[in-house]
Amino acid sequence: MKKLLSILASTLMAVSLIGCGSSTQDSAPAAAADNSSAAEPAAAVEAGGDLSDKKVGVCIYQFSDNFMTLFRTELENYLVSLGFSKDNITIADGANDQATQTNQIQNFITDGVDVLIINPVNSSSAATITDMVVDANIPLVYINREPDADEEARWEAQGWDVTYVGCDARQSGTMQGEIIVDLGLDAIDFNGNGAVDYIMIEGDPENVDAQYRTEFSVKALTDAGLDVNCLSDQVGNWDQTQGQQLVANALGQFGNDVEVVFCNNDAMALGALQAITDAGRTVGTDIYLVGVDALTEVCEDVLAGTITGTVFNDHIAQSHGAADAAVNFLTGAGNDYYIGCDYVKVTSDNAQSILDSLG
Ligand code: GAL
Repeated sequence: MKKLLSILASTLMAVSLIGCGSSTQDSAPAAAADNSSAAEPAAAVEAGGDLSDKKVGVCIYQFSDNFMTLFRTELENYLVSLGFSKDNITIADGANDQATQTNQIQNFITDGVDVLIINPVNSSSAATITDMVVDANIPLVYINREPDADEEARWEAQGWDVTYVGCDARQSGTMQGEIIVDLGLDAIDFNGNGAVDYIMIEGDPENVDAQYRTEFSVKALTDAGLDVNCLSDQVGNWDQTQGQQLVANALGQFGNDVEVVFCNNDAMALGALQAITDAGRTVGTDIYLVGVDALTEVCEDVLAGTITGTVFNDHIAQSHGAADAAVNFLTGAGNDYYIGCDYVKVTSDNAQSILDSLG
């Protein structure tokens, strides 16, 4: 959207790109460049028309991921509420293996799905995936793992029916850092060395969510004028068990010097909490812990004070946005090339209202 706005500001030609989605620009590559119904994809349905015979292929990078489980459950329910038939929605588990997922995408293409929603195993495979799907003239909605800027620019330059729906991970990292900053150095600096001594537990490092959360959580501290000391930075691959093990190791090695544990997501924060408890430490008393996602269990921990805070990764807005984008492609309305949403900082002040909103 930011890119789109700058184009709009810089050239009148961009008028034709408004909504990035206007049928002339966003119809399938082979479509005629006019505004008649012939320019719509073959599978187009009327706005508000019958979606019950439309086939949706969904690829999830790994079913065992807690957050993506919430996401795909909400996505399926919402697609059904829009009028898609449950029988025509197929969700494939990529099992964290790109070759497996690429094969699943190929099978969806062979099966003639009308639209694909893809959470790539490797964001770096996006160009290959896009080429396969666009060649088959199938609209494509990426979710959760954002392809790089060059890849997104390519969709726009080519006028392809491809978009990304997700949040800006920099925002989530910044919010994690702010939760710590708001405590004040006096409350954090248990060892009195004048710095915030922390350990970082990262998600899959191929993923921008992990890269940005790692960078921007710490940046929020230094931007606030705090000195920081990284005791350990380890990869836990978004996984609770790995998070627990890594934090147990770090607590064993650095003991009471660990003042803050940053986890790139809540699953790893739950593992960290277990390790912290096992080590006889107490969150809020002699250590702080933050995650991202706002899983129900973590919101409850935030209310209880056993986790300092988290950041709501709005799977409801994102899954609905992805389904709406799929419908917009099917109706020929088209989409912007980037559809964003906001994270929400979660502390004991608002954890209950986040829980209430999750139902
Ligand atoms: C992140 C989420 C993690 C994990 C990851 C998968 O946005 O916070 O928990 O699901 O996506 O790519």
